Amino acid sequence: MEKQKIRDEIDFKELLRSPLRLYGWFFVYFFLLILAFGIFFGHKLIPISYNEQNVSATDLTNVKLDLVEKKGGIIPAVDLGSVINPSKEMISNGKELYDANCKSCHGDNGLGDGPAGMMLNPKPRNFKLIDGWTNGRTIDALYKTLQEGILSRGMAAYEYLSPSDRFDILHYLRTFAEYPEVTDEQINQMNTAYNLSAGTIQPNQIPVEKAVEKVLIEQKDIFSKVKNAKKRIEQSRNLPGAALLQTYSIDLDKVLYLFAVNNMITFDKYYSLLKNDPQSFGFNPSIIRVSVSDLRTIFDYLKSTMI
Ligand code: HEC
Repeated sequence: MEKQKIRDEIDFKELLRSPLRLYGWFFVYFFLLILAFGIFFGHKLIPISYNEQNVSATDLTNVKLDLVEKKGGIIPAVDLGSVINPSKEMISNGKELYDANCKSCHGDNGLGDGPAGMMLNPKPRNFKLIDGWTNGRTIDALYKTLQEGILSRGMAAYEYLSPSDRFDILHYLRTFAEYPEVTDEQINQMNTAYNLSAGTIQPNQIPVEKAVEKVLIEQKDIFSKVKNAKKRIEQSRNLPGAALLQTYSIDLDKVLYLFAVNNMITFDKYYSLLKNDPQSFGFNPSIIRVSVSDLRTIFDYLKSTMI
């Protein structure tokens, strides 16, 4: 029994004498091999999961998207006479705009065979064909197409182009084929509908960042005005205005803020503001019962602190 037990255990000495027997341990090798592969690939995965590879993306951290500074003004009105009689420059400007905005669909020569139009149904309009137009081929119909688009048929609106640019494109477009003559009546009608001869007012525009800076500077300015005014009040406690102010004000900052922002405010305006809502302007509601002449004393005194 004792002997049997010992034989069941591994006899390493004998194993070393005939190493071939080690192949009986096949599953152990197999396990180690898989483990080694596992570790190897596991490590290879780390650079991927940590995204250590160099990514060739553009560094956008320094790119600022903001409005450009633009002086406002009037977008020039359309010279109505030129619509009947376009100049060479207008037509060549029109060609440039056509190439940039329309050619991709309507094609180089207006045949409706541009690459971007291939997949469209209906196909972009062939400007040389006379039949089948939705709005029509007269100048006012063409202008309407650019103003509103024909969305149901896949033609976009180009209302962001200025009216005179739109006419330039149309002048060029009209060189592709024989188009109906432009009449005074059509021009008058367009002028009434779109106010072409009035021009459009475009406001000034500054970058948001600059606007914020401006506001901050203004706020700083207001803040220092209030601070200085407080100092002056501190130094002139014995003036009648100061005494009244002390009696009726509940929030001196609020009182002074209005004057710091609007130094030009008139007494009448101030009086009506206070009467309606004394607390919003830093006063005790009982100020309503103060005589007008006392109110004026306070008013004059507050103004004098703002210099
Ligand atoms: C995305 C492609 C595309 C672009 C870009 C495009 N169009 Fe069109 N256009 C169309 C399609 C589609 C139609 C509709 C064709 C139809 O109704 O048979 C159309 C129709 C028209 C018509 C005919 C309107 C009518 O009464 O039937 C005019 C004029 C026109 N386009 C002018 C222009 C001009 C000018 C530009 C450039 C400022 C332009 N298009 C840019 C696709 C385009």
